[in-house]
Amino acid sequence: MKEQPPERKTSEEGRFQDDYYSYLELPENATRYIPVGFFLDEAFKEQSFSLLDLGCGNGALSKYLPDRCDYLGVDHSEGAIEKCLNLYPNRNFVCQDLSVLLPELVAQQKKFDAAVLSGLLFHSTDKESLEKKDDQEIIQFCLDKLLSDKGYLVLIVPFAYGDHPSHNFFVRAEWLQKSVEKMLETAKAKIVYENISLQIGLDKKIRQQQAIPDWFVPDSATDYSNKYAGTYMASWTFIASP
Ligand SMILES: C[S@@+](CC[C@H](N)C(=O)[O-])C[C@H]1O[C@@H](n2cnc3c(N)ncnc32)[C@H](O)[C@@H]1O
Repeated sequence: MKEQPPERKTSEEGRFQDDYYSYLELPENATRYIPVGFFLDEAFKEQSFSLLDLGCGNGALSKYLPDRCDYLGVDHSEGAIEKCLNLYPNRNFVCQDLSVLLPELVAQQKKFDAAVLSGLLFHSTDKESLEKKDDQEIIQFCLDKLLSDKGYLVLIVPFAYGDHPSHNFFVRAEWLQKSVEKMLETAKAKIVYENISLQIGLDKKIRQQQAIPDWFVPDSATDYSNKYAGTYMASWTFIASP
């Protein structure tokens, strides 16, 4: 008899409820956000600028942006947005799915000086249909419809490495770099900044903090080398202009 695939609960909601995403707040994870903070601070020297953080999670990026940044974070997780509003009462957050909010922003003719996709590419899966969202489509949408003329698209791509061959640092880093560069080239965007940053010690913190959450069901098609495969340890930051 053919084995049934495991039922997967892909909603992010559980992750915020059981504090899985609290690692985003740890000082060890700061290197994920610092490069973009520096870049935008310099690019918009002494000027205010607007920024849309797509899938903002618990809003950790907002800590690394200057006060003159007019920040709007959006996430479909109510738990995440509740955290954001408590942690950063001076910033703006909205709880909505991107598929609903983005067309609304376009209809209102809203433009942003920066649009950030941090931890959104490569693992965004529709929680109902389990279909992969189209990364190329969202990149194109941001560039064509959401960014101002002087705007920047920021892609932060966290990735893991470990004992398993597919987690080899350099292989993963090179593969990610090529994939993102290709998507930006297809979208006719010009890369103006690239950076790779390590998150030293973050894996140990997560191992201390985490038991396998209840909602996690291993995928029978995946060869998990150990239960912590997937721990974020580094990020690529790509910044492009339309
Ligand atoms: C890995 S977390 C990254 C959080 C944050 N960007 C960061 O890097 O600190 C991905 C986030 O994207 C949100 N997300 C995924 N798909 C979304 C969608 N279609 N609409 C709104 N939020 C979404 C999830 O709820 C989750 O908070």
